[in-house]
Amino acid sequence: MKISSILSSGFVIASALQFVAAYPGSGVALTPRKTSILINPAAQPDLPTAAQAQAAASAASLNLDDIQGDILIGMKKNQELFFFFSITNSTLFKQKLKSDIKVRVTTTTQLLSVSSQPTTALNVAFSQQGLNALGVTDDLGDPLFTAGQEADASVLGDPGTTNWVPSFVGKQIHGVFLLASDTTSNLNSFLSDLNAILQGAIQEVYSLNGAARPGDQQGHEHFGFLDGISQPAVTGFNTPLPGQELVAPGVILVGEDSDPVATRPTWAKDGSFLAFRQLSQKVPEFEKFLTDNPIIEDGLTPAQGSALLGARLVGRWKSGAPVDLAPKFDDPVLAADPTRNNNFTFAHPGQNILNDQTNCPFTAHIRKTKPRADFPTPNPGNHIIRAGIPYGPEVGPAEAASNTTVTERGLAFVAYQSDISNGFHFLQHTWANNVGFFFNKNQTQPGWDPLIGANGGQPRWALGLDQTNFDRNITLENDFIVSRGGEYFFSPSLSALSGALSA
Ligand code: HEM
Ligand SMILES: *[C@@H]1O[C@H](CO)[C@@H](O)[C@H](O)[C@H]1NC(C)=O
Ligand SMILES: *[C@@H]1O[C@H](CO)[C@@H](O)[C@H](O)[C@H]1NC(C)=O
Ligand SMILES: *[C@@H]1O[C@H](CO)[C@@H](O)[C@H](O)[C@H]1NC(C)=O
Ligand SMILES: *[C@@H]1O[C@H](CO)[C@@H](O)[C@H](O)[C@H]1NC(C)=O
Ligand SMILES: *[C@@H]1O[C@H](CO)[C@@H](O)[C@H](O)[C@H]1NC(C)=O
Repeated sequence: MKISSILSSGFVIASALQFVAAYPGSGVALTPRKTSILINPAAQPDLPTAAQAQAAASAASLNLDDIQGDILIGMKKNQELFFFFSITNSTLFKQKLKSDIKVRVTTTTQLLSVSSQPTTALNVAFSQQGLNALGVTDDLGDPLFTAGQEADASVLGDPGTTNWVPSFVGKQIHGVFLLASDTTSNLNSFLSDLNAILQGAIQEVYSLNGAARPGDQQGHEHFGFLDGISQPAVTGFNTPLPGQELVAPGVILVGEDSDPVATRPTWAKDGSFLAFRQLSQKVPEFEKFLTDNPIIEDGLTPAQGSALLGARLVGRWKSGAPVDLAPKFDDPVLAADPTRNNNFTFAHPGQNILNDQTNCPFTAHIRKTKPRADFPTPNPGNHIIRAGIPYGPEVGPAEAASNTTVTERGLAFVAYQSDISNGFHFLQHTWANNVGFFFNKNQTQPGWDPLIGANGGQPRWALGLDQTNFDRNITLENDFIVSRGGEYFFSPSLSALSGALSA
């Protein structure tokens, strides 16, 4: 190749730019991105642009440069690695946290534009054991966090820790690094950098690889339903679409307006509690249940009756269209329109919301975890931002034919909130697992959330799933979702990392 053609090639220009892009203030070079780290299926709401978010943030005095990037962006990651570690030398770890780690931690602002996204985004969060190991003695004001998730297992409906991944048992985990990118090779090379930086300071306890599912299943969880459609909008970050609820920043971020807990250490401001759960999904078993129990209704084939049952368990069709607006057949056009696919309340003219489940069962997953007009007055407190990602391989043909899961797969569930007892814990325990919820309906016990409701591994049941007979009581002999455990973490602000949590 001639020198002149090398000089005019994009390759040379691109490599020259590598010396411009760097982690802020670090001198560590970055390859500028041309494509986003994030996925954005049509049905999911777009993130705000950096300029829109900046305008909203300054009006609400929120500092998006100080908030870790994973918290507000939801379920849009392409590839993610959860790296759970224990701290082996806290002096060294603190030094590195303040310096090499802190400069690599990705902020909310950075994730909003492709041009400011790093090759691999990094977030970090600590368990109470981790804060203890770092000598941080401040009480963060969240008793569930302090006690750790293992102590919460039975209350969450898990049969103790029988099915838990051993690493989540015994408080071994001090923290988690969340690495996000668009290729596994990016994640792996970032991880080896991280391990080199933290040589002698940490030890791996466990790791879990998540990835968006391939092809047209991108953004869908393993049962096949599009996920990440309905998230709360947060004042100071984004503007609600029709039907989307706007919540005060303190519902998600510690120390912000409407944080329910008054006494927090100053350094905890703009952090968020991260509830992590490894939720395995029995996909062939779920499919068999739908096949064996179609809703029998005029005009529906058995396959359509099975698809309808699945949609009524979730409250949305696989496409993402809500059953409240598309009660009998899927509507892919509605599904793909974020201005319409969340614009419903479960109330309909001519229907009584206290006894009518024509459009959506009381127990549907999205109704149990996000009541809308079921509550006569707004419910400002019980909200989470879901930021999980599927893990595990696709179902193979032999596995599907056998109706039995061979290889584990599921959802690496992540929920952010300012108070775990109002957020994840409340949704799981007080709503999904509570057969009496909703309380004011003509059925005193509508049943379990048929998807995530958990009864200590014992059978569950739900009414309202059959559109032709609301009182039909369907028994769910086996769980389609089996908890493999997890941990409660705190994802601090960047300034708290700079001060190495100010202890
Ligand atoms: C493997 C486990 C799970 C699966 C497969 C799953 C699946 C889904 C799907 C398909 C949706 C509809 C998409 C959307 O509205 O964005 C959804 C929504 C939702 N899920 Fe889950 N989910 C799981 C676990 C959980 C857990 C453990 C919780 C909380 C305890 C939860 C809370 C929610 C909430 C709050 C919504 C949004 C409801 C709304 O705003 O309308 N999910 N989930
Ligand atoms: C921990 O790291 C510090 C700082 O690098 C070092 O001085 C110290 O010897 C290490 N402690 C142990 C037990 O390795
Ligand atoms: C949202 O729903 C309301 C009430 O059904 C309706 O009036 C409005 O036009 C809908 N908005 C969009 C964008 O479809
Ligand atoms: C609740 O009301 C619905 C609609 O009127 C009716 O079909 C159902 O039988 C009622 N169930 C109970 C337990 O009263
Ligand atoms: C799997 O389940 C389907 C639906 O019930 C059934 O037709 C098929 O025979 C089952 N296959 C095996 C291997 O049990
Ligand atoms: C539904 O059936 C189960 C047994 O499978 C029973 O324990 C439960 O009480 C029934 N629920 C209602 C509301 O009848």
